[in-house]
Amino acid sequence: MVRNIVILTGAGISAESGVPTFRAADGLWEGHRVEDVATPEAFRRNPALVQTFYDQRRAFLGQVVPNAAHLALARLEAQWRERGLGEFLLVTQNVDDLHDRAGHNRLLHMHGELNSALCTACGAARPWRGPLIDDPACPACQRSGSLRPDIVWFGEMPYHMDAIGDALSRCDLFVSIGTSGAVYPAAGFVQWAKDAGARTLELNLEPSAGTPMFDEARHGPAGTLVPAWVEEMLGAL
Ligand code: OAD
Repeated sequence: MVRNIVILTGAGISAESGVPTFRAADGLWEGHRVEDVATPEAFRRNPALVQTFYDQRRAFLGQVVPNAAHLALARLEAQWRERGLGEFLLVTQNVDDLHDRAGHNRLLHMHGELNSALCTACGAARPWRGPLIDDPACPACQRSGSLRPDIVWFGEMPYHMDAIGDALSRCDLFVSIGTSGAVYPAAGFVQWAKDAGARTLELNLEPSAGTPMFDEARHGPAGTLVPAWVEEMLGAL
């Protein structure tokens, strides 16, 4: 009997909404090498390039909507809560806001969020919808030129690791959706869950680096696989 569920999502769950994944066949991320836009060194070297890159991605959120996979996970969480079945935690590596818009109660963005700005002067993180390229003042400390995208770049510590570790240690089902399993610590969550005695399931377009670690793997588009799995879970209640 499943009580506590932890779900990890990656870029693949947003692909059918039109958000590009990270590891394209040409090795570039929307035309850029990852070290040119997603490291603290890149930001120090060329802040305008990095701000523009994330400003464009933030603006693009206005053109995309949650797809059937996001909506199905929101339905599952709502049922889990309503019926008091156990804990439900959704952890996403995605910096888009599609899970937020689908509606979740316990959602952790471990790699940060496009719709948030982080002040390098005072450390405050605040909701942010507009561009950052024109150096707006920090809403918390009023300093100008100190805001950066609230994104966890390579070499930085992911957010919420204590809460995620606690949930993994208590879960009896761990499901990984739309992630290549290339980036740690997220890629290691399946092992943490197994160590806690959980059953593990992968839902991904194709076999990932982590596939051999899962008890079960289903391959296909998230927009089809996830709603089918959610119906299966709800049908078994
Ligand atoms: P990746 O781009 O590495 O992997 C996306 C995965 O989704 C791949 O395994 C695809 O096969 C799969 N996929 C693509 N379309 C799909 C679909 N329609 N349905 C289901 N699966 C699909 O993205 P992530 O694993 O999320 O970190 O990347 C992890 C982290 O690396 C990101 O959070 C980001 C990046 O660098 C930071 O920015 C810190």
